[in-house]
Amino acid sequence: MSFCTFSPEKLHNNAKRERGLNMGSRLVPFLFTSLAIATLFSFFLIYSPNPLLTIAKQGLNSIQIQPNLHAVQEQDHQDLDHNNIKLQPPTKKEEEKCDLYEGHWVPELRGPMYTNSSCATIPESKNCFKNGRRDSDFLNWRWKPDKCELPLFDPNTFLEIVRGKKMAFIGDSVARNHVESLLCLLSQEESPKDVYKDSEDRFRTWYFPQHDFTLMKLWSKYLIAADERMVNGTGSGTFNLHLDRLDDQWARHLPDLDYAIVSGGHWFFRVMYLHEGGNLTGCVYCNQPNVTDYNISHAVRMAFRTVFKHIKDCKNCRGGLIALLRTFAPAHFENGAWNTGGYCNRTSPFSEAQIDLGTFDWEMRNIQIEEFERGRREGEMKGKKFGVLDITRAMLMRADGHPGAHWGNQWMKGYNDCVHWCMPGPVDYWNHFLMAIIRNEGGLVS
Ligand SMILES: *[C@@H]1O[C@H](CO)[C@@H](O)[C@H](O)[C@H]1NC(C)=O
Ligand SMILES: *[C@@H]1O[C@H](CO)[C@@H](O)[C@H](O)[C@H]1NC(C)=O
Ligand SMILES: *[C@@H]1O[C@H](CO)[C@@H](O)[C@H](O)[C@H]1NC(C)=O
Ligand SMILES: *[C@@H]1O[C@H](CO)[C@@H](O)[C@H](O)[C@H]1NC(C)=O
Ligand SMILES: *[C@@H]1O[C@H](CO)[C@@H](O)[C@H](O)[C@H]1NC(C)=O
Ligand SMILES: *[C@@H]1O[C@H](CO)[C@@H](O)[C@H](O)[C@H]1NC(C)=O
Repeated sequence: MSFCTFSPEKLHNNAKRERGLNMGSRLVPFLFTSLAIATLFSFFLIYSPNPLLTIAKQGLNSIQIQPNLHAVQEQDHQDLDHNNIKLQPPTKKEEEKCDLYEGHWVPELRGPMYTNSSCATIPESKNCFKNGRRDSDFLNWRWKPDKCELPLFDPNTFLEIVRGKKMAFIGDSVARNHVESLLCLLSQEESPKDVYKDSEDRFRTWYFPQHDFTLMKLWSKYLIAADERMVNGTGSGTFNLHLDRLDDQWARHLPDLDYAIVSGGHWFFRVMYLHEGGNLTGCVYCNQPNVTDYNISHAVRMAFRTVFKHIKDCKNCRGGLIALLRTFAPAHFENGAWNTGGYCNRTSPFSEAQIDLGTFDWEMRNIQIEEFERGRREGEMKGKKFGVLDITRAMLMRADGHPGAHWGNQWMKGYNDCVHWCMPGPVDYWNHFLMAIIRNEGGLVS
């Protein structure tokens, strides 16, 4: 994998070269410094993609860091008595009123639905207990929507819903984390066959023969077409983005799909050149006087606009295609970025009152939702189906759910992974949401 090529010497030489760069006065200095570092580490960033986000967050004082769970615990003892309610389908009335994503985490002593012994496919990098994580309280929480119950994931129900269908997770390494969680949950019912795997584990296909269900992972950094600028034959960490064209690597599979679960955002925190109709129309943080400077939000917005425009207009897509947006997944570095000693070692969730929706994570989520809604309005008129896994808010509360590195996790040479999620862990809830949504074909929440 690319991070194996990492060497401190290379970093040192690059750092010397970068110091000569002209830092733009329009840019907040901490942002730019971090950006330069991010560029050096570009080959590394597949796994730890958003240093800027982290720094920006700390600048904004985003997350309050005093855990105070008393309120949550008191309020929720009563929920524990209602365990059997959540297995019943919500009534029509409940469905209309209930936003699954407005809620909080409540204590749940039942434990996870799989372990590292019952699921054989937990990747090393997310097998937190194997890598030395000792605290397990982070597994003892359940998501409780304010106005209803979230039905628990049930592998048999899920596999019946998707019988004969093809589902793809489209996005970066966090999308991979999501599909890995789904595989663990489903393997409790049926073990899939590995049908296809590329050398870098970016494109994969699994098949569940008993349910004729095909599951795919389609890798895409930006969702739209993008290519890395080369300097002297090596990647520069700077990308050309073609705002009006999809990344065909995934888009060519779209006509075969019944479910397309789209997500992204972590790769946008770097210098990017923006193109439309083949022409350079601007950039993000390139700091060139003759190129219009846009912010990250603009690039993210245009990318998601293109994705949902394509999906709503897709003529050769299956009639029953269900397009789902999985909203931006927050990272939780504290006291530094991923490459400057930031860490995530919390052992319990934040309460609702402790998260701040004034952060860049939330803006990323809002942009994605807005562009999703734009596509949905027109797409639904054409009979397409849309749904959203709006996980951002719930996951902002789960700083305790990441692998980190201080448990002796060696997978990133000592860096802390506060971007991806332990398995089992709160990431499994993305699939509880997924099942709730597809059971209702996208009609459950807005
Ligand atoms: C599962 O986690 C335990 C620690 O809780 C570890 O000792 C064991 O090696 C892990 N097993 C696998 C198969 O990952
Ligand atoms: C590219 O290579 C040329 C010739 O070897 C060298 O002068 C130049 O500094 C290099 N550029 C970068 C950005 O490394
Ligand atoms: C690209 O730039 C050329 C030259 O300025 C212009 O003629 C053409 O219309 C541009 N294309 C688009 C799609 O904007
Ligand atoms: C902007 O200026 C640089 C350096 O002078 C030049 O290489 C580049 O082609 C220019 N870009 C555009 C879009 O004019
Ligand atoms: C990005 O730019 C848009 C306008 O192009 C603006 O509305 C938005 O607030 C900006 N976002 C940030 C984070 O600066
Ligand atoms: C997390 O790590 C920091 C820095 O090493 C330490 O001060 C803090 O006590 C740790 N918190 C927990 C919950 O382990």
